[in-house]
Parts: sequence; C-alpha cells; structure tokens
Amino acid sequence: MRDFTLFLGKFLRHGTAIASLAPSSRWLSRATVANIDWARPSVIVELGAGTGPVTRVLARRAAPGSRVLVVERDPDFARLLRERFGDAPALEVIEGDARDLAGMLRDRGVDRVDHVVSGLPTPSLPRDARRDVIRAVGESLKPEGTFNQITEMPWVYLGLYRRLFREVRFRFEPRNFPPGGVYYCRGVRPEGATP
Ligand SMILES: C[S@@+](CC[C@H](N)C(=O)[O-])C[C@H]1O[C@@H](n2cnc3c(N)ncnc32)[C@H](O)[C@@H]1O
Repeated sequence: MRDFTLFLGKFLRHGTAIASLAPSSRWLSRATVANIDWARPSVIVELGAGTGPVTRVLARRAAPGSRVLVVERDPDFARLLRERFGDAPALEVIEGDARDLAGMLRDRGVDRVDHVVSGLPTPSLPRDARRDVIRAVGESLKPEGTFNQITEMPWVYLGLYRRLFREVRFRFEPRNFPPGGVYYCRGVRPEGATP
C-alpha cells in the first residue's frame, strides 16, 4: 500500500515522467526479465526502477558473479531502493538520469552490459531525451545484448520500438492492472539514436 500511495503521489505531481498509476505487478515484473539466463553471471542495468518490483526479481535471481546497476532519477525512489536492496550483493542503486548511462558505466569500470531492463516512460520522454537514452543504450549493450521495455499500453508502441531496434518481439501480460506487456528488443538502429 505504501508503494502504491507513493507512486500515485509521484504520478499526480510529475505526470509523464512517471507515466503510470501504480508499480508493476509481480507478473509483469517477471515477464520483463524473462530474457535473462539466470544460470550465467551477467551485467544487468535497470533504468527507471520506481519502488523496485523488477529490482526485487533481479536481486533474488541474478546468478552469483552478476552485477546489477539500478538507475533511478527520483531521489525519493532512489532512497527507498537503497533501503530495500542495499544488502543485495552486487546490486548498486545509482541516483541519476538514464541519459548519462554511458558515463555511469565508465565511472564504474563497466565496458558493456548484457541486458538493459527499462521501466522508463520511453515513448513519452521528450524527443531529445529519448534519443540520448537510446544512444546510451546502444553504446552500452554488447552486440547480442537485450533491451527489455515494460509497457502498460500493449502493442501501441510496436512501431516506435521497431524504428529504434532491429529485432523486436512483444509479449502481452494480462495479469497486470492495467494489462501490460514487454517489448524485447535487440540491436539499436543507428538512426534510432540520432535526432
Ligand atoms: C513507470 S515508472 C516504472 C517504475 C517501475 N519500473 C515499475 O515497473 O513499477 C517510471 C520510472 O522511471 C523514472 N524515470 C523517468 N525518467 C527517468 C530518467 N530520465 N532517468 C532515470 N529514471 C527515470 C521515474 O522516476 C519512475 O520511477
């Protein structure tokens, strides 16, 4: 309930920067990380973690030797995430803007990552912010790396993600309120990361 109230308050104050009335359900959170091979250590970035429903799955399931970097711009959410997941080995909460991802990784000695999991309101970001985020994702992912984007608008943005990535699949998740889904993407198109 605390998460719901905090989330709703942020939505009412910040609107499109939050872009959702409530945290993702456990079903949608699990679907978002379905691309990850839990048997192998990997480097995973989560962008826009909110109150941490997806972070919780990552903290529980990441293989030993993995590294999980959680980026959240809102200071209240970032504080809550640190309280909740501060003890998780190899998980770090970074308060900052997803646009600066490449620099955050450089500062931590991380070259390329295996997976980016995004709860960002990507379609409603201002155009230049979206371009910067997609560019940073393209610079940070390994060639075979995946970008996994939560949505509460099933299928609506398939065209957008196909313009941004070479390979896009969509999975519907009806057990969320509202019903949602995940875009599983690979291969940032160079033109998707340019104005
Ligand atoms: C729709 S909420 C998703 C929260 C969570 N992943 C979930 O599924 O419940 C979007 C989150 O993205 C964060 N956010 C928005 N723009 C951001 C940015 N440029 N950099 C980092 N976080 C951002 C917001 O503060 C918010 O916590």
